[in-house]
Amino acid sequence: MTVLVTGATGRVGREVVGHLLKRGVRVRALTRRPEAARLPEGVEVVAGDLSDPASLAPALDGVTGVHLMTSANGEPVTEEVAGELVALAERSGVRHVTVLWSGVEGAVERALAKSGLGWTVLEPVEFMSNALDWADSLRAEGVARLLGDRPGALVHESDIGEVAAVALVESLVGGAGGGLRGGRHVGRRVGRHVGRRYTLTGPEALTPAERVGVLADAVGRDFRFEELTEEQARAVVRATGASEEGVDHVVGWYLNPPAIAYTVSSAVEDVTGRPARTFAAWAAEHAGDFR
Ligand SMILES: NC(=O)c1ccc[n+]([C@@H]2O[C@H](COP(=O)([O-])OP(=O)(O)OC[C@H]3O[C@@H](n4cnc5c(N)ncnc54)[C@H](OP(=O)(O)O)[C@@H]3O)[C@@H](O)[C@H]2O)c1
Repeated sequence: MTVLVTGATGRVGREVVGHLLKRGVRVRALTRRPEAARLPEGVEVVAGDLSDPASLAPALDGVTGVHLMTSANGEPVTEEVAGELVALAERSGVRHVTVLWSGVEGAVERALAKSGLGWTVLEPVEFMSNALDWADSLRAEGVARLLGDRPGALVHESDIGEVAAVALVESLVGGAGGGLRGGRHVGRRVGRHVGRRYTLTGPEALTPAERVGVLADAVGRDFRFEELTEEQARAVVRATGASEEGVDHVVGWYLNPPAIAYTVSSAVEDVTGRPARTFAAWAAEHAGDFR
């Protein structure tokens, strides 16, 4: 079994790669710059650009599972690109795809729903690693700034990676005759992830001020939270290179978050069989980034 991981050099993709390797899966990793990939030994690194589906043909050769990002160059992929990617995957013999939601219901999800491929959509509402956006100001001034003070049920990137790996392995092993890990996943679990949409959260919803408190405990310093005005927040998001539509989406989300943003889901535990990782655990792992 070979799985192609797109976004493999990113925060989530690196975790997907790690959890697949732990399960004995052969991993092929897609990147636009193989020379800068820094992926673990044993991973086959291949070049390709998600905004140019034809460039993925060699990467898909011989692959039965794909972990697919739904954005390219920071923007959701277009209907045309999504249609071509899914058609190419089908022609290449792919059987199951885990889809990393980009924040909006997108073209990839629609193309997959019309295809003959098995798919599982992963909807991580907010990554714990977004806290790294605060690293510079916390180190320099002990202050973290964000728009709004609403709670969010942030998810650990490693949990996203583990859910993707479990969904891919369990969906692919049965049809391929099994055998991984002594055939532990064979049979009974095959098909349980097909056509499913998992909203992925951590085990609790925390306000930004509570997150800053958790980071302060992990680092052993006094940190405080300061709420941005809407105009300040727009400027911050714009500076990341986001389109005006992207700025509206992010700012609107923080001002008026949908229920999925703060509602704790049991999906991580349901899929992996163990509780979702806490923000305190994430903060302990990353304390060095905030010192
Ligand atoms: N942050 C959140 O709270 C949140 C919540 C829900 C969903 N998301 C979604 O999660 C995804 C980001 O995941 P992440 O944080 O793990 O990524 P990341 O750390 O920002 O890294 C971006 C990854 O995307 C790859 N990439 C970008 N454009 C590409 C292209 N044209 N062709 C091929 N690869 C391309 C990069 O690969 P190379 O540079 O190596 O080519 C890199 O691996 C986005 O789609 C985002 O919308 C984020």
